[in-house]
Amino acid sequence: MDDLQMEILLDHYQNPRNFGHLENPDIVYEEGNPSCGDQIRIEIKLEDNRIADIKFTGKGCTISQASASILTEIVKGKSLDEIKNFSKEDMLNALGIPISPIRLKCALLGLKVLKAGIYGIKTWPGEED
Ligand code: FES
Repeated sequence: MDDLQMEILLDHYQNPRNFGHLENPDIVYEEGNPSCGDQIRIEIKLEDNRIADIKFTGKGCTISQASASILTEIVKGKSLDEIKNFSKEDMLNALGIPISPIRLKCALLGLKVLKAGIYGIKTWPGEED
């Protein structure tokens, strides 16, 4: 495992970026990982179909919280179309460390909450159960 990348993830976990709440958000969505109870809530302010501002709060494992923090940095300022195209693979690449299958749901929880909040997409293709 890449030590530097792991340090970056730990830093995001300990000092999460865009952590907190927005005044009058346009979108608020919260969901957890049912297998462990970890939770992420995102709040979004839209402007001209772009994410003008985004904040998150949550509790859970290092990977879920760090990936949510990284995700908010990536999507801030992006258009909704760009976010629609931001895939699970893009999220995993952004984390930059190998994620074992058992931790995939941790790594993707933030992205799932984001997409569910914006588009109502609640399940990933192939994970309909
Ligand atoms: Fe719960 Fe990772 S262990 S999201």
